[in-house]
Amino acid sequence: MDAIEIIRAKRDGVELTPEQIDWVIAAYTRGEIAEEQMSALAMAIFLKGMNRAEVARWTEAMLDSGERLDFSDLARPTTDKHSTGGVGDKITLPLTPTVAACGAAVPQLSGRGLGHTGGTLDKLESIPGWRASLSTEEMRQVIVDTGGVICAAGSGLAPADRKLYALRDVTGTVESIPLISASIMSKKLAEGTGSLVLDVKVGSGAFMKDTTAARELARTMVDIGNDHGVRTVALLTDMESPLGRQVGNALEVAEAVEVLSGGGPADVVELTVALAREMLTAAGLTPGENGIKDPAEALRDGSALESWKDMIRAQGGDPEADLPEAAESRVVLAPTSGVVTRLDAYQVGLAAWRLGAGRARKEDAVSFGAGVTLHAKPGEEVVAGEPLFTLYTDEAERFGWAAEALEGACDIGGADEWTPRPLVIDRVA
Ligand code: URA
Repeated sequence: MDAIEIIRAKRDGVELTPEQIDWVIAAYTRGEIAEEQMSALAMAIFLKGMNRAEVARWTEAMLDSGERLDFSDLARPTTDKHSTGGVGDKITLPLTPTVAACGAAVPQLSGRGLGHTGGTLDKLESIPGWRASLSTEEMRQVIVDTGGVICAAGSGLAPADRKLYALRDVTGTVESIPLISASIMSKKLAEGTGSLVLDVKVGSGAFMKDTTAARELARTMVDIGNDHGVRTVALLTDMESPLGRQVGNALEVAEAVEVLSGGGPADVVELTVALAREMLTAAGLTPGENGIKDPAEALRDGSALESWKDMIRAQGGDPEADLPEAAESRVVLAPTSGVVTRLDAYQVGLAAWRLGAGRARKEDAVSFGAGVTLHAKPGEEVVAGEPLFTLYTDEAERFGWAAEALEGACDIGGADEWTPRPLVIDRVA
């Protein structure tokens, strides 16, 4: 086999054979294909696409590049959720303990943030003492003891994707439906979950800006999951504006704890409950049947909060400790009075990133206290001269750059100019 021949084939729109796909992924993982050749192939795939058989084989080859975890011997059925990434998307934090409190086991391997979307591990690491890296045995023990675990994926899991994702990130080849599908599904299948719910984001703060593309991404991933015997469903959810009122690491942990305590913003609660119900049903534990608690009840009665505290303690964290706060804050005032008719998720995510909540390179450290508080969400009234955003950072020189990102991020108008958007747009099963 020859990398150039495979690049030329895809460049000319020819379907790759299973043997070519297996060879290219295995050789790339072993370091036998040059990064510039893999970049060219990724761009050819980005431009020409892959059909269902090619995506399935590409996923399989990436899955086979590493180890596979197996939790099928646990007493509880396993289920997991994966989000394609958004702004203020702290849903994994309240969701995992809620689903655990309702009776399923949740093996959740999460990532760190890169670019304008945050990462679950960065958020949790703002809790003093909490540890993201666990061995497979430790991971299993935390699930047995608490019902759920959120931790970093070990380097043995889908190593082909680890390498390829880093390459795509710097070659403009991330936003490709076949490549995103294979990337996400190879990791989720390697994680060994019995069922999976995908939260496919649509809107300015998401990879997929329109519903048609998001639906195609959802369909591709749902088919891959089901073809592998993992019951998979997807919800298409709105990411035109940020989720909740807090964007940033410790800020989002605090908001997640509000939700787990029975309060918190309505959109975060709605999405947590919708995804939890899907996860439990996919795991064969339909809420309301055979004594299975409804997730809304687990948030109300304190059982989800107890699961959260158990999970945090099991990974060395102190759930009662004060969270880190940024050294500096600055308030942005509303320029006019009226109703917020639009709040751009991408721009808010970019501002939080510029304040230090995210990283520019994989090896950068994040600021736990940095981020943005939204004082008004779409549909809410603001008064000229009252706070619209509060910005937090450890380095005051970042304020100007972050405020620039927010220019034009928020439209204020008459109540009749605002149209409510559904949070859950569609379901793909
Ligand atoms: N998340 C992933 O894990 N992979 C992608 O390609 C995009 C988002």
